[in-house]
Amino acid sequence: MPKRRLFVTTALPYANGKFHIGHIMEYIQADIWVRFQRMQGNLVHFVCADDAHGAPIMIAAEKAGITPQQFVANISSGRKPYLDGFHIGFDNWHSTDGPENHALAKEIYLQLQEAGLIEVREIEQFYDPEKGMFLPDRFIKGECPSCGAKDQYGDSCESCGAVYSPTEVKNPYSALSGSTPILKKSDHYFFKLSDPRCVSFLSEWTQGLNADGKTRLQPEVLNKIKEWFVTDESGKSGLGDWDISRDAPYFGIEIPNAPGKYFYVWLDAPIGYLASLKNYLDQDSTQKNVPGAVGFDSFLSDPGVEQYHFIGKDITYFHTLFWPAMLHFSGRKTPSSIFVHGFITVSGEKMSKSRGTGIDPLKYLSLGMNPEWLRYYLAAKLSARVEDVDFNPQDFMLRVNSDLVGKYINIASRAANFIHKQFNAQLGQVGPNGEQLLIQLQSAASSISRLYEEREFAKALRDIMALADLVNEFVDQNKPWELAKKEGATSELHAVCSTCLEAFRYLSIFLKPVLPALCTQVETFLKCSPLVFADASTRLGPGHIINDYKHLIQRVDEKVLDKLFEMPEVSDTKPAQTSNPSSSSSSTKTQPPKAASAFSVDAPGGEVIAPTIGIDDFAKIDLRIAHIVSCEPVEGSTKLLRLMLDVGEGRTRQVFSGIASVYKPEDLVGKLTVMVANLAPRKMKFGVSEGMVLAASHADEKSTPGIYILQPWPGAKPGMRIH
Ligand code: 2FM
Ligand code: ZN
Repeated sequence: MPKRRLFVTTALPYANGKFHIGHIMEYIQADIWVRFQRMQGNLVHFVCADDAHGAPIMIAAEKAGITPQQFVANISSGRKPYLDGFHIGFDNWHSTDGPENHALAKEIYLQLQEAGLIEVREIEQFYDPEKGMFLPDRFIKGECPSCGAKDQYGDSCESCGAVYSPTEVKNPYSALSGSTPILKKSDHYFFKLSDPRCVSFLSEWTQGLNADGKTRLQPEVLNKIKEWFVTDESGKSGLGDWDISRDAPYFGIEIPNAPGKYFYVWLDAPIGYLASLKNYLDQDSTQKNVPGAVGFDSFLSDPGVEQYHFIGKDITYFHTLFWPAMLHFSGRKTPSSIFVHGFITVSGEKMSKSRGTGIDPLKYLSLGMNPEWLRYYLAAKLSARVEDVDFNPQDFMLRVNSDLVGKYINIASRAANFIHKQFNAQLGQVGPNGEQLLIQLQSAASSISRLYEEREFAKALRDIMALADLVNEFVDQNKPWELAKKEGATSELHAVCSTCLEAFRYLSIFLKPVLPALCTQVETFLKCSPLVFADASTRLGPGHIINDYKHLIQRVDEKVLDKLFEMPEVSDTKPAQTSNPSSSSSSTKTQPPKAASAFSVDAPGGEVIAPTIGIDDFAKIDLRIAHIVSCEPVEGSTKLLRLMLDVGEGRTRQVFSGIASVYKPEDLVGKLTVMVANLAPRKMKFGVSEGMVLAASHADEKSTPGIYILQPWPGAKPGMRIH
């Protein structure tokens, strides 16, 4: 029987978009922990699902002209390449729109109602008369009540950062139809989190200890929760009741005995954890090979089963208050711990889904970059704290190349050839120095296990690499390449190389949760059964025969890494040939125009004039006068300058421009220029570029070099629009 039985999940991603690097980081963190637990002999059920419901998905499906179910199915069908690609081994991937979730959500709701924790109240909300629906906050737009900025969302202002309620927005309009919303009353269902029973349960639960005597929540999370519990002067609990219903039309689960009312997506989303587990455990076929297999009900009701949820810091409230309260008051077991992680930044920039920044995980894979480089790099930065993790390309390359290739794999490659060529692939006895080294490695297993258990992956990898350093020092001291040439040193050479491979096996055990695919190759090379932590107390031993050594991992190639950060190819930005009646052959219309001579009247500036557009097309491009507040060279780039531009928004924008060959930063600072202010921000290797500076150049830069940045006539002011 397994030692411990664990139920582990990651947060369920909304089924409205592809995975971004933030998802992948969370999945990798959880996957490493799960693999570690399995290597300890524990039974783990590791599941996830698509978070399918809610108004944004319903609206996106409508826009796409398909049903929400089809929309979600399309998104779901794209998940596998990411999960397989990064070796993320969920046992099951399900959907919150599955029948298990419908049934469980209704059951839990009725149990909460039975406990007297559901209340119906009339509330007033914005309603789109044209669409015939209540509007979620994000679909109400208008002027910020604080700074007056136009086109702001109904809950917060992107310009000044103010947070407000939709009814405070000036001149509100529906983002769906453009019509002015009206205030309309409706009955909503509330989960009474402010009920003294909930408050007292949650204040105890959040402070609670786990079986190992540690608090179930991280210290930073506990501090945050304290703020949420603060009572006001009248003694009213800080925990407000939770509006769990939404009116039709809504893509979700209908509330029992409440026609036209649906569960708010966040009510049924965490229940999706249980639904995915049920879907997995109650399928007989998947259970055949699971040791100690039991069905969903008996597994989950077993008090010995531990339940863990890996989540990002932005959804802590839902998981540390609503979710345990829902479980407890519906008569269920509550989570053993919630493991909260920070966000991932890329070169110090906060990742933004809407701005498309960050690293595209599929692009990473399609460039042939090794997924285990990323697993290793992220693990080397992850701790049990709620802190952000930065992906820095240079650091990534240095860390992977120096640790994985330079320190770890190097040990095997240094020893394997001698064992093959001189000792028929057979290991020998280790000498006294080697013995000492191996004992040191063996005895590190318990502290490394503890670090994995505590999710202190960065510390674990630091300790493992310190052990790899010791092994490399041992090689340097014993110099097998000299022993190989020295008369009478054969057995010494055999002992040194055998020590190296025994040590390499220990390091592989320790690294396997992070590098599962690489370690599978190592198992083939060492001809050993799948490595588990208990193997740290054994040896391959003298007489053990190994397989041929094949190179196990490549170094990170800087050129490929650069490609990861290259902007996506813009579809042919050169204008197509104009349909000129004098055009001779029809084929020229489909060919890209060739750069004509510098003075051609057909192609002034080396390119033909672009096809005619209407004024509406032009109006889409928002050109503004920009003040160049600062300008500096970009380290690592000979082409780019980094400009900080002010277009009168009360903030500056970072724009990268390929003008370093013709302008010095000091020539530009303080000047006015023209920028495209509504160009979608683009990620670059050095950061996000939030616009584009206009500059003139000849199409054939070689024959007619020069780039000329635009400058307005005196009198123009930053922020003025160019019409
Ligand atoms: O924030 C999000 O992406 C949500 N879809 C997470 C849900 S986690 C759980 F509750 F399902
Ligand atoms: Zn504002």
